[in-house]
Amino acid sequence: MTDQWWRDAVVYQIYPRSFADGNGDGMGDLPGITARLDALAELGIDAVWLSPFYVSPQADAGYDVADYRDIDPRFGSLADFDALAERAHALGLRVIVDLVPNHSSDEHGWFQQALAAGAGTPERGRYVFRDGKGDNGNEPPNNWQSLFGGAAWERSTDPDGTPGQWYLHLFDVKQPDFDWTNHEVREMFHDVLRFWLDRGVDGFRVDVAHALIKADGLPDAPESSVADPAPYEQEIESEAGDRGPMWDQDGVHEIYRDWNKILGEYPGDRMMVAEAWVSPPSRLARYVRPDEMQQSFNFDFLTARWNGPALRAVIDSSLRAVESVGAPATWVMSNHDVIRHASRLALPGDEARPGGIGADDPQPDAVLGLRRARAATALMLALPGSAYVYQGEELGLPEHTTLPDEAREDPTWERSGHTERGRDGCRVPIPWEADAPSLGFGNTSGTWLPQPAAYRTLARDQQRGDPSSMLEFYRRALRLRRELQLGKGRITWQETDPAILAIEIETAAGSVTVIVNLSDERLEVDDLAAGEVILHSAGPSADQRSLGSDEAVWVRR
Ligand code: GLC
Repeated sequence: MTDQWWRDAVVYQIYPRSFADGNGDGMGDLPGITARLDALAELGIDAVWLSPFYVSPQADAGYDVADYRDIDPRFGSLADFDALAERAHALGLRVIVDLVPNHSSDEHGWFQQALAAGAGTPERGRYVFRDGKGDNGNEPPNNWQSLFGGAAWERSTDPDGTPGQWYLHLFDVKQPDFDWTNHEVREMFHDVLRFWLDRGVDGFRVDVAHALIKADGLPDAPESSVADPAPYEQEIESEAGDRGPMWDQDGVHEIYRDWNKILGEYPGDRMMVAEAWVSPPSRLARYVRPDEMQQSFNFDFLTARWNGPALRAVIDSSLRAVESVGAPATWVMSNHDVIRHASRLALPGDEARPGGIGADDPQPDAVLGLRRARAATALMLALPGSAYVYQGEELGLPEHTTLPDEAREDPTWERSGHTERGRDGCRVPIPWEADAPSLGFGNTSGTWLPQPAAYRTLARDQQRGDPSSMLEFYRRALRLRRELQLGKGRITWQETDPAILAIEIETAAGSVTVIVNLSDERLEVDDLAAGEVILHSAGPSADQRSLGSDEAVWVRR
């Protein structure tokens, strides 16, 4: 029996393009990350997850992989990866890498061979090629839409220059979907898993884990599940029976059972976390049955509205679902695909969240957003299970909402015909030192996406040592979470005003009450819990025994 470190781990997501630039070319890289790992150890996290750094033409920021077993020269070399993993392990941090199995880049050797080999060949069998419908096969084989906008099919050109078969791409046209019924595809990924396990990685974050198997015969999708242009915020709301022929098919689980066996062949305690935008929680729990993956991101929590009943309902249903299969919950509020929560939680109105924000859109209230982000952190880091922190949230970074449209790189912006801004606003290089070039991101003034003026005062060196800062708030919360073993706790709700969350947490190391005030009234801590206030989301100089709207406390009983 191993220690199953991931059950209550706090995992920090590094987005390599935007974490730290070691060579001054304006884009982050692996040596840059290695040189900054001490700051993460000091923060108090347990593991890092790195978004893709593999060889890639970067049509989707590296989620379009041309070689799964090598590092893109933009990010460094395999030796740089080994140095990163060694340094992380020396600091006591586990390393999780991103695995992108649903699709490759169109520049992957296999896809190039498939194009050259022609219809009906084994080379084509590794991807989803089909004849078109209509006259001369002019129409796509079905009505599926790309998540980035437009049709999910592209017509290929035969070697003799004539229009040929169509291939499926649920994402960009440069991201052809693999055919996971093909045994060569399965074997290739078994080798890829072993390649990284042999290099010492502790786990994998599995990209679009719910998409690998498509319904037999590739039937048309019902209107309601034809992908929405803002998928990362909305797809999750579809009902189980209505999930569409490309999502959450039962056949995916066999793949993860095979992978679980491979991880089991390795010493230590390796893990997988599913990126699966699947709801309700009972369907999502199927990915974390004992012989499949260890975790799946809780996107119901990420997309929950900022109000008491909604949050309570999602916490309860998530815990019930994972407990039914013996897995830990996995809380997350931000990542590289969604609007940073310090902005998202303060968007005007309660309408569906947009897929990106532009300068001419209604702007979020920065002060309100930061206050809510601090309260949300106090809530998330107290909950039992594991938590994921996206780089920069510990600095309270807002979304870059006024990025010039010419600077945008997310394919969503072009593919949606400039109707969806896309995800660039959460991917901007992060600030380290207020007075250095590119705010300390790298030794350069030009960064691949421009940094907003607001990032200067939020630079890490401005916050470090300031007890009222977001950074010190995260450090304190993470230290207390560890000391009090909150990730291993059991929770009970105190019945109170539905706009107030009052959660009693029992662990082997103590008893804590977490109070989040989502009402419009100021609250007195003494009315809800007796004991010492050990964490206040408004910081140490606020009146510790009272909470304004959108504030939270931890009380040790
Ligand atoms: C996942 C990634 C996202 C990427 C997509 C296609 O959702 O998180 O960034 O665009 O998969 O690989």
